[in-house]
Amino acid sequence: MNTYKIAVIEGDGIGKEVVPAAIEVLDTVAKLDGSFQFEWTYFPWGCDYYLEHGEMMPEDGIETLKQYDQIFLGAVGMPNIVPDHISLWGLLIKIRRGLKQSINVRPAKLLAGLESPLKNPQNFDITVVRENSEGEYSDSGGRIHNGADEIAIQNAIFTRKGTERAMRYAFELAKNSNKHVTSATKSNGLTYSMPFWDEVFEEVKKDYPDIDTAVNHIDALAAFFVMKPQAFDIIVASNLFGDILTDLGGAIMGSIGIAPAANLNIEREYPSMFEPVHGSAPDIAGLGIANPIGQIWTGKMMLDFLGHHEAGARILNAIEKTLASGIKTGDLGGTATLAEVKNSIIGNL
Ligand code: NAD
Ligand code: IPM
Ligand code: MN
Repeated sequence: MNTYKIAVIEGDGIGKEVVPAAIEVLDTVAKLDGSFQFEWTYFPWGCDYYLEHGEMMPEDGIETLKQYDQIFLGAVGMPNIVPDHISLWGLLIKIRRGLKQSINVRPAKLLAGLESPLKNPQNFDITVVRENSEGEYSDSGGRIHNGADEIAIQNAIFTRKGTERAMRYAFELAKNSNKHVTSATKSNGLTYSMPFWDEVFEEVKKDYPDIDTAVNHIDALAAFFVMKPQAFDIIVASNLFGDILTDLGGAIMGSIGIAPAANLNIEREYPSMFEPVHGSAPDIAGLGIANPIGQIWTGKMMLDFLGHHEAGARILNAIEKTLASGIKTGDLGGTATLAEVKNSIIGNL
């Protein structure tokens, strides 16, 4: 029997509600499978922790996390009590970088039983590979002067290593699944970073002569997500472009509340972190009405990463059955509570 040691960070807001639900589902599927089990260790890190300790996690937090096989995280952020740039850079982004989780994989596909807000969604099945360690998200910059003379500078950092790594990951995914790769660029408006991005894409694609490719500016790509999402397979995008595109990916599936994600340490040197696309949803936190499917599907991605594809498929089937039977939370137009959706999924398992 394999025992996986998982570090759990529920975080803030609805993270505290959707994570326990997903853990119940994962424990159920583990029991049914019989070949593995989870050992969950909880870390109370987040904005409440910050108010008490003055930091989002202890100084040795990253070292502590290295002792676990994987990390299961809900959401971080309570902007009414801690400014977002402090809470996110003190926990979520700190972990992504500290544990070299350089690739963020975010699928968007139409699930059975779901109605897309698109009139004609067809059967889209997209995987966005988001560069997760650099790009537009950097702490290089600063603010000087005050008032009318004030200046804010935020440098975008694109390295050959990081850019190439994300692109190769996308091509490898495409190779293993017979799909094509689209690069998200903006080399018409950004004069250094994106022409560089395009050049690296041209170089990397030479190593994959059998894989079809396309290059789209991010603005057009956003429009195509609405008009013809079925045209895409694998998309490789920079940190910020991938961030924005994947909320849109959630939206065209039916709700950002169902979109899953995985922050991968592809070298498997450190734990990866499984955390859905959505945030802490302060507007509905504590009401018991958050959609747990994003977190549960994220759990399925963790199972896949651990090699338990059959157990993972079971989870997605159970989710689809629940949706098809009309049990949906408010974000999907239904009236079910979080607990009702979770219990239905467990019943279907
Ligand atoms: P959000 O994703 O938290 O919420 C956006 C909207 O979607 C809200 O109306 C919310 O109610 C709804 N929503 C999100 N998840 C839902 C779910 N599971 N079920 C039903 N409805 C859901 O984004 P935001 O409002 O921009 O950010 C809120 C906080 O979360 C901020 O502090 C932000 O920085 C943080 N955030 C954290 C993460 C993360 O930890 N991964 C991701 C995004 C945002
Ligand atoms: C996400 C979130 C984070 C990001 C924020 C909260 C820093 O939006 O995981 O998509 O932009 O990476
Ligand atoms: Mn986001």
